[in-house]
Amino acid sequence: MTGEWTVPRVKSGIPGFDELVNGGFPKGTTVLVTGPTGSGKTTFAVQFVYKGVELYDEPGVIVTLEERAVDLRREMRAFGWDIEKYEKEGKIAIIDGVSAVVGLPSEEQYVLEGNLNTEDFLRYIYRVVKAIDAKRLVIDSIPSIAFRLKKEEEIREVLLQLNTILLEMGVTSILTTEAPEPSRGKISRYGIEEYIARGVVLLDFIEREVELKRYLLIRKMRETKHSMKKYPFEIMSDGLVVYPSGEIY
Ligand SMILES: Nc1ncnc2c1ncn2[C@@H]1O[C@H](COP(=O)(O)OP(=O)(O)OP(=O)(O)O)[C@@H](O)[C@H]1O
Ligand SMILES: [Mg+2]
Repeated sequence: MTGEWTVPRVKSGIPGFDELVNGGFPKGTTVLVTGPTGSGKTTFAVQFVYKGVELYDEPGVIVTLEERAVDLRREMRAFGWDIEKYEKEGKIAIIDGVSAVVGLPSEEQYVLEGNLNTEDFLRYIYRVVKAIDAKRLVIDSIPSIAFRLKKEEEIREVLLQLNTILLEMGVTSILTTEAPEPSRGKISRYGIEEYIARGVVLLDFIEREVELKRYLLIRKMRETKHSMKKYPFEIMSDGLVVYPSGEIY
């Protein structure tokens, strides 16, 4: 037996994905999901948490920094995912990181205040993770942390701190970021997110005749033997599906 098989695996909840990474994400790992706008980052991340509860009974926290919790719930309902039901059961917690910043009232249970420093921001997430005993965590997205904390120039320190605290919490996490031009090798906004994350999944489009096709590429996954092929995926009415035996041509 080789070491890679001894690492416990966390199922992604995305049909077709786990077989590309030896059965799932290495437990406790931090994975960056990157891609251009509309590529499916939020859907991938929320599916990881939602299916984590539905299929594997693992509680999860979603930190939403780009859209308000109410909007996220509504969008995800379109996939048939009733997040609210699991929130009532204490298995999902959404941290609303938008309302206070844009000056809208929030009736959410978990709200990030408008003027937080890095420590308070991380401490709040830590508290909510502990409160519901979360095993999975999503932060959507990294660039909005930088804007929010008004520390774009210090994003490296913030990410290092974040990484340390994620490891300490023992959760398996997905962080999303922007990849404006993945085809030119720029796969993350700041160029440092991919060094901090232990895994990187790129979601992107490729032009084929008159339409854009979606594909997924695992750029890195530590402790994991994975292919470097581009795999087709689709966003269906019930979420993301990857086709491990499909071809991009
Ligand atoms: N209910 C649905 N059924 C099928 N496809 C959908 C559905 N909802 C959204 N989509 C597709 O998913 C895309 C958006 O995915 P998502 O919001 O996860 O992307 P994103 O990468 O997070 O984008 P952004 O950069 O804007 O945050 C839409 O543009 C649409 O093509
Ligand atoms: Mg998004």
